[in-house]
Amino acid sequence: MTTSANTQSSGELKYEGKAKRVFATANPGEYRVEYKDDATAFNAQKRGSWAGKGATNNAITALLYPQLEDAGVPTHFLKKLSDTEQLVRAVTIVPIEVIVRNVAAGSFAKKLGLEEGTPLSRPVVEYCYKSDALGDPLVNTDTAVALGWASVAEMKRIRQLAIQVRDFLTPYFLTRGIRLIDFKLEFGKLPGLSDPGEAIVLADEISPDTCRFWDAETGEKMDKDRFRRDLGGVEAAYAEMLRRIEQG
Ligand code: TMP
Repeated sequence: MTTSANTQSSGELKYEGKAKRVFATANPGEYRVEYKDDATAFNAQKRGSWAGKGATNNAITALLYPQLEDAGVPTHFLKKLSDTEQLVRAVTIVPIEVIVRNVAAGSFAKKLGLEEGTPLSRPVVEYCYKSDALGDPLVNTDTAVALGWASVAEMKRIRQLAIQVRDFLTPYFLTRGIRLIDFKLEFGKLPGLSDPGEAIVLADEISPDTCRFWDAETGEKMDKDRFRRDLGGVEAAYAEMLRRIEQG
C-alpha cells in the first residue's frame, strides 16, 4: 500500500472501509481520508490490490468534486493533502448506496434479464443498504425513513442531488470519449443543520471503483469491471480515466 505522506499527524482512526480509511484531525469538523490500493468485489468475496490505485482514485475524486461543487452539488471535499490523502468535512454517512443508471448493466441487467448496454429512456435511481454481510440489499425511501436513516425531506434531497450529479457527469465524460453507464454515490449529513438543503452533502468518492465507464468509440470497459470480471488491463484503464479527466 502507498504510505501516507507526512501532511498531517495521524489522528484517531474513525472508520476503515474496503478502499479507504478515515481519520480524525485536530479540527473536529474535518476528517482525513486515506485511499488504499486494495480492491474488493462481490461484497468483499473477491480481493485484490495494485500499486497506484489509491492515488488514482484520490486524484480523480479531487478533480471531480470541486467541479461538482461549481455545478451546485455540495460535497464533503475540502482539499487534496497528498497522493493518497484528502481533507474532507466530517459528516455522518447515510447508510445507503445511491446508484444511478443511464444504461442497463451489472446487477440491473442481470436481475431484469436485459442485455448489458440496453438504453434506459430515463435515469433509474436505486438505493441499497450499505451492508456487505447482507449483500447490500435493495431498499426504498420508505425503508430509509422507517429505519431512521434519513427523513423524507433528506431522501428527496439525496435523489435530487444524485440526478444533478448525473446531469453534470454524463456530458462531462462524453466530451472525454467516455459513456457513463452507471455509478454509485454516498451522501453524508453535516452536524447541527436541520435543513436538508444545507445538511446533505455528497461524500465518499467518484472513481472507476464506483462507476461504469465505457469507451465511447470502442465500448471497452474502463472501470472496476476489469477487476470484477478478470478482464486484465485494470491499472491501464484507471490511469487512462485519470488522464482523460486531467485533460480539463
Ligand atoms: P451493480 O450493477 O453491480 O449494482 O453496480 C452499479 C454501480 O454501482 C456500478 O457502477 C458499480 C457501483 N457499485 C459500487 O460502487 N459499490 C458496490 O458495492 C456495488 C454493488 C456497486
